[in-house]
Amino acid sequence: MIRFHFLWLFIAATGLVAAADLPRERISIDENWRFIKGDPTNCTVSLLYDSRRDEAIRRVAEAEADGNPTANQSAASNQTADLPPAVIKQWILPTGNPFIKDASRRWTRPAGNPGDGAPYVQPGFDDSSWRRVDLPHDWAIEGPFITEGGGGMGRLPSPGVGWYRKKLSIPAGDAGKSIFLDVDGAMSYAVVWLNGRLVGGWPFGYASWRVDLTPYVKPGGENELTIRLDNPPQSSRWYPGGGIYRNVWLLKTGPVHVCHWGTQLTTPEVSRERATVNLKVTVDNDSKQSGNVSLKTEIFPLNANGKRSGSAVANIAPMSLKISPGESAVAEGVGTVVNPKLWGPPPTQRPNRYVAVTTVSQDGNVADTYETPFGIRTLKFDPNQGVFVNGERIELKGVCDHHDLGALGAALNDRALQRQLEMLMDMGCNAIRTSHNPPAPEFLELTDKMGFLVMDETFDVWVRKKTPLDFHLIFPDWHEQDLRAHLRRDRNCPSVILWSIGNEVGEQFTGADGAEWGRKLSNIVHEEDSTRPTTTAMNWAQPTNLLPATVDIVGLNYQGAGIRTTPGRYPEFHEKFPDKLIIGSETASALSSRGEYIFPVTASNSAAVGSKSGEEPGRRQVSAYELYHAAFGASADKVFASQEKHPYVGGEFVWTGWDYLGEPTPFDASRSSYSGIIDLAGFKKDRFYLYQAHWRPDFPMAHILPHWTWPGREGQITPVHVFTSGDEGELFLNGKSQGRKKKGAGEYRLRWDDVVYTPGTLKVVTYKNGAKWAAAEMKTAGQPSRLKLEPDRDKIRADGRDLSFVTVTVTDKAGLTSPRADNRIHFEIHGAGEIVATDNGDPTSLEPFQSCDRKAFNALCLVIVRGKSGQPGTIQLTARSDGLEIGTTSIKTIRAGGIR
Ligand code: GAL
Repeated sequence: MIRFHFLWLFIAATGLVAAADLPRERISIDENWRFIKGDPTNCTVSLLYDSRRDEAIRRVAEAEADGNPTANQSAASNQTADLPPAVIKQWILPTGNPFIKDASRRWTRPAGNPGDGAPYVQPGFDDSSWRRVDLPHDWAIEGPFITEGGGGMGRLPSPGVGWYRKKLSIPAGDAGKSIFLDVDGAMSYAVVWLNGRLVGGWPFGYASWRVDLTPYVKPGGENELTIRLDNPPQSSRWYPGGGIYRNVWLLKTGPVHVCHWGTQLTTPEVSRERATVNLKVTVDNDSKQSGNVSLKTEIFPLNANGKRSGSAVANIAPMSLKISPGESAVAEGVGTVVNPKLWGPPPTQRPNRYVAVTTVSQDGNVADTYETPFGIRTLKFDPNQGVFVNGERIELKGVCDHHDLGALGAALNDRALQRQLEMLMDMGCNAIRTSHNPPAPEFLELTDKMGFLVMDETFDVWVRKKTPLDFHLIFPDWHEQDLRAHLRRDRNCPSVILWSIGNEVGEQFTGADGAEWGRKLSNIVHEEDSTRPTTTAMNWAQPTNLLPATVDIVGLNYQGAGIRTTPGRYPEFHEKFPDKLIIGSETASALSSRGEYIFPVTASNSAAVGSKSGEEPGRRQVSAYELYHAAFGASADKVFASQEKHPYVGGEFVWTGWDYLGEPTPFDASRSSYSGIIDLAGFKKDRFYLYQAHWRPDFPMAHILPHWTWPGREGQITPVHVFTSGDEGELFLNGKSQGRKKKGAGEYRLRWDDVVYTPGTLKVVTYKNGAKWAAAEMKTAGQPSRLKLEPDRDKIRADGRDLSFVTVTVTDKAGLTSPRADNRIHFEIHGAGEIVATDNGDPTSLEPFQSCDRKAFNALCLVIVRGKSGQPGTIQLTARSDGLEIGTTSIKTIRAGGIR
């Protein structure tokens, strides 16, 4: 292993090191990669991760991808003695060693260099004909959509092999430094080579991970980085995406440095007057000399943008360490923040944050600096009263969300994520469950900044599979590394309040075996973080099952409101586990398509969807009266009632906040889900207002449905429902009262089910406690005539990443939305930007997301526009459609750093 440590120490000692070279450089290497899909035809070496997967394909490819209990089988049955030895995994497993606690179980790298002989791995390989891409990159989102088979994985080509190559220029002055590659997420089974030498890798596609490039780097020249991904088919119950879909960094440090995710900050005593801050720092000594190291930490407040503001408000008492060569050592220290500004969720609290800046010095020279943003807050989980943050009871008004960003696919984009969270916050949502995997680090940066409470989830499967080739195949080898890596990455984030070790895992049904896994994973969490509880989300567990007892908080999916004919189970669990808080870890699974109203409308407040119940099977749409749900679910109304009836329950996480790619229940032929409160394009379904009315009771609002443009329905009964944060309302049709209605106990909407359709104006006036509260109107629109373009932001950064989301509405002459318009619209862009994707939120649409031609779906289209990097100016977006007046808008792009 060549480390050039002597040279480095010499340079450091003589003070020749430029300030910019010290101590830690984190460089984005997202730009300018080469990419190709598939292995080369002339490749004679096998790059198979593990023969177990091949065997699994052979044995179970035909098995139904189904999460139901009887179809769940243990992966262990795929492992038999007669299998050929694993091909490449022995070289990959050592990458996870820092996350294996028992040193005797860590992996040793075998001799040899898998990939020798694989053309793409060879230094000097000519990749100039490959496609040039920037990361984050999702190879599947460009389609084409796949019309064969099931829609579970989103009908997009995520499975397969993909290769990425990049030239890294490493200056000669980097000799002696430790150089790492940090990958925030690559889907999946990543293997990394540098200059033809296999470095390591990580199979779990949602994990963030690091490989140490140091032994393979050639300072003073170009280094060739090659990454191969191998995404199995039938590996997910939703759209996983494919590719290096999150950010990638090159990290350079001195040989003595804070290790990966090497700090842990906790605040064991917090009052308004003072907070005790405990800091634990792990320092690695990658050199061949023993190191005498001193550590100093200062704490600064962060402003709302995450920038340091003002001078240090506290210090952690200096610490010192002696670290043997090639070893790590841990230092612990304490400090006090006086009059701390606490972190808490809006609207009643503020998400104030601090940053701890740790300076590591060796022989009087700065060897490393490391920043740890954190928050000061208290959490209490009371089995009878719910969740408390800083002493205030906060009901979890949460949603579950998957990681995809709709038309952008899995490719991480900060602004797209921020938009998702902003809309959820506007609805009154204060909590997110990262279903069912570790999120992007940027997601937690946003939830920390914005003040969401996060249930951070690691796994959807343990050893029992849900789909034939999902991550159950690697779970036996990787569960500890994946879990500890996830916890170490996220445990300083104040928004994380709860760790979920699994979702609806098959181990719910396996008695003692399953409970053993639950206990093992829960123990790992407690070892890594003693400040937050564990949970697992269970949809079939009985109070007498062994699994719920292994976690701190009982997470019930759907069981609170009751599944099918099984009545709600909160009381049984509460009685059986009087010391454990219960949460509705997944609720509702209500289904709808934005702007679709299907008659007749059920008289019930909750009905399972079916061909005669809220569905229009021919068009694969579900009614937006927001009363229908998956067979095992419940309407929002029914869930609200069950939550209110059991106030000891901490709150709920609705399935889902946003529609997502894949799992298009109840129409498998579609591409995306129907369960979102917000559709895939980011347009609000009516359900948005049902939640807003309930979750923001002090925000005056009223919302009418359906639309009131029904040529041909004259004289027919057309129920009108109103979602309002008021408690009473009077509906008028063309000025004539349809009666005044009041919400009864357990009712969350006002319904006028006998209204006879006549074109004109519907108006509702709502009241709260007898006083006027809010009003809304809905008018009959004329023929589609114009196109209205509205960017969510008319000024964005010219950095090639920032986005403007432009809503295109088909209106009549007077500007009223034509609610059923499905005109085909063509988009053109000129100037300083480009169209990244378009969508319309229709789960049945198989039009490519990159197309500049798209049909409106119930009046709306979305155009996602990006500014060209480094070219500030004006973007002109034009929309044309036959027979409609042209629509335009302009967006300014300004130099990076100019906004926020
Ligand atoms: C739940 C499951 C989710 C999703 C949902 C569909 O049981 O946890 O991942 O599959 O059903 O409605």
